[in-house]
Amino acid sequence: MTGELSPIDKAKFVAARRAADMVEDGMRVGLGTGSTAAWLVRCLGEMVRDNGLRIKGVPTSTRTAELAREVGIEVVSLDQAGWLDLTIDGADEFDGDLNLIKGGGAALLQEKIVATASDQMVVIADAGKEVETLGAFPLPVEVIPFGWQTTRSLIEETLVAMDVLGRSVTLRMKGEAPAITDEGNHILDLHLQRIGNPRQLALVLNQIPGVVENGLFIDICDRVVIGFGDGRVETRDINEGTIEQDRMEFAESDNLFSDLTD
Ligand code: 5RP
Repeated sequence: MTGELSPIDKAKFVAARRAADMVEDGMRVGLGTGSTAAWLVRCLGEMVRDNGLRIKGVPTSTRTAELAREVGIEVVSLDQAGWLDLTIDGADEFDGDLNLIKGGGAALLQEKIVATASDQMVVIADAGKEVETLGAFPLPVEVIPFGWQTTRSLIEETLVAMDVLGRSVTLRMKGEAPAITDEGNHILDLHLQRIGNPRQLALVLNQIPGVVENGLFIDICDRVVIGFGDGRVETRDINEGTIEQDRMEFAESDNLFSDLTD
C-alpha cells in the first residue's frame, strides 16, 4: 500500500510510473537496476499483464532479469535485441547537463553498455539525486580482480592530476568479502567529493589497465524524470530543452504495492 511507502519510495514510484508511459507497444527496452528501476519493471509488468503491452526487455543485471521474468516481461539479451528503442534506469546523481554517477548497485558496466546501445536513455530519480556538481556520491569503478591493488594505486596516482577534492579509494565489500559484479569483477569506490571535470575523469580512468568501466555517464542520458514524495513529477529533456510538470495519482489498492521484495 502506498500509505506504507516512505516519501522517497513514493518519489521513486511516481518517476518510474511516469517513465513507463514512454514505453510503446513493440519497443525493445533496456531495464535498469536498483530500487527505482525495480518500480519501473513492476509498472511495465502490470502494463504487459493488464493492457497487453508487448515489449522485449533487456535487463542490466541478474536481479533485474529475475524481477522482469517474475512480472511477465519477455526478457532477451542485448545481442538478441541488437539495438534498443529506450533504456530507463535510475542514477545515484545527475547534474544540470544530465551527466550521471551510476553504479551504486554495482551494475554500471551492463548499464552503460545497454544505455549506449539505445536511441534514448531516460533516468528516473527522486529529487534528492540532483546535484550542482557530481562527486558527493562515491564514484564506482569496476576493476578486474587480478592485480586490483595495483589498479587502485594507479587510480590514486591518476587522481592527483585531476580536478577533484577527495582522493581516497575503497574496495566495495559485501559482508566480509569483496563485492562481486555480474561479470565477476570488483568495485572500487572513489571518494572524490567534487568532480570538476567529469568528462576528463571518465576518459582518463578508462585508460588505466585493470579498469573495466567507470560510473560516469557523460552525454548518454537524454531525459530525466524526477519524482517528488507528494506525487509531483518533472520531466526534463536535455535535447529539446523542455521541462514538463505533472502529478501522478496513487491507487491505494494497487497490486504493485503488495508483495514487495526489492
Ligand atoms: C545500479 C545503479 C542504480 O541505478 C543507482 O544506484 C540508483 O539506485 P536506486 O534507484 O536504488 O537509488 O546505478 O548500479
